[in-house]
Amino acid sequence: MKSLTNLQLDRSVIDWPVYMGRALQLAQNVLTATPNPRVGCVLVEAGKIVGEGWHKAAGQDHAEVMALLAAGDRAAGATAFVSLEPCAHQGRTGPCCDALAAAGVARVVIASVDPNPAVAGQGVSKLEAAGIEVYQLIDMDPAARKINPGYFKRRETGLPFVRLKLAMSLDGRTALANGQSQWITGDAARADVQRLRASSSAVLTGVMTVLADNPALTVRADQLAQSSAVNEHDEFAAQRQPLRVILDSQLRTPGTARIITEPGAVTIYVLSAELETDQLPDNVEVKQVMAGERGVDLQSVLESLARDFECNELLVEAGATLSGEFIRLGLVDELVVYIAPRLIGSDGKALLEMTGLTELAQSESFAIKELLQVGSDLRLVLEPANDNQERLHG
Ligand SMILES: NC(=O)c1ccc[n+]([C@@H]2O[C@H](COP(=O)([O-])OP(=O)(O)OC[C@H]3O[C@@H](n4cnc5c(N)ncnc54)[C@H](OP(=O)(O)O)[C@@H]3O)[C@@H](O)[C@H]2O)c1
Repeated sequence: MKSLTNLQLDRSVIDWPVYMGRALQLAQNVLTATPNPRVGCVLVEAGKIVGEGWHKAAGQDHAEVMALLAAGDRAAGATAFVSLEPCAHQGRTGPCCDALAAAGVARVVIASVDPNPAVAGQGVSKLEAAGIEVYQLIDMDPAARKINPGYFKRRETGLPFVRLKLAMSLDGRTALANGQSQWITGDAARADVQRLRASSSAVLTGVMTVLADNPALTVRADQLAQSSAVNEHDEFAAQRQPLRVILDSQLRTPGTARIITEPGAVTIYVLSAELETDQLPDNVEVKQVMAGERGVDLQSVLESLARDFECNELLVEAGATLSGEFIRLGLVDELVVYIAPRLIGSDGKALLEMTGLTELAQSESFAIKELLQVGSDLRLVLEPANDNQERLHG
């Protein structure tokens, strides 16, 4: 495989980043393809796009196969632009390398090498063995990885990408002193949370939120439709429910809780194997993990979600206690904070349970990735600043 930087692109291949940009755009036609990555493919022959494809959902055709079907005979001699290295193994569908070779594709251009050990580099080798030239546009690798933060993180570290969602008033409160909180934010922000859920492999909460609010934490087609971020091609977005996960040391979640009775699978992490599970229906799996400083050990939960459930992107929608623990332990990759322009007062409930700092230098800091008005509220997307990592690990 030849790696090419943008500076190495001569006149004959100057359009390649444009076609790859289109492949990256197609990959994002879906909110998720979990546990698979989002992938897009464009087939170009004689300067014309002859086929396009994207991976719609696990079990559906891969992007390359969809593009080959669209191109038909025009795929012979074409160049395939694929956002991720084509697969070399037999999964739920056949290896894409074989399909590309059988169609007579002359050249394959990728943005990223697949970190999956069953593919990593083997897709490239298989294509080259079939006489197909393979190139990587390495300047487009970061943009391609950003499309699948969870898939890359799980394959490379054994942990899911953790997105923590918070909703608060302008003065950083989540509820009145009497506990009343539903709903701080408006309809548009709540529809946007539906988009976050539909993009996630799993949604996680704490037992106290289950007992206090009885949330379903499901994707609801009518509300999701209000989120303008759903693409018309994403036909499976509202059909799939993310795994719902409850952290509940003593198994206090009642079998009648909406999070359990609504459609979809549920996993409850507990501390003891001795707990009574008879009251729970078949869609619920109870898993024992080791104890953490407070409740169940969050690192073990994340490892289990990646290993046992192929969880790429995890959305945490919990109260101040559990959200605070995720932040304190440095386990959050991205914060999504909805800010409602209203004031609740200093006797309102705090956003996070985190106390005891004596120096400003000890505080967690974040870098702003995005700031957007959503309906009447604001959405702030942040990532941990580098100095947090140094404080935690070095
Ligand atoms: N504004 C928002 O975005 C938002 C979102 C969700 C909830 N809420 C509000 O939050 C309130 C509930 O918040 P909360 O703080 O009491 O509950 P929470 O954070 O949802 O759940 C906390 C519980 O999770 C369990 N847990 C297990 N392992 C844990 C660990 N490692 N670290 C921390 N907790 C662990 C603990 O119970 P065990 O010891 O029994 O395991 C703990 O009491 C509700 O009133 C709800 O309305 C607000």
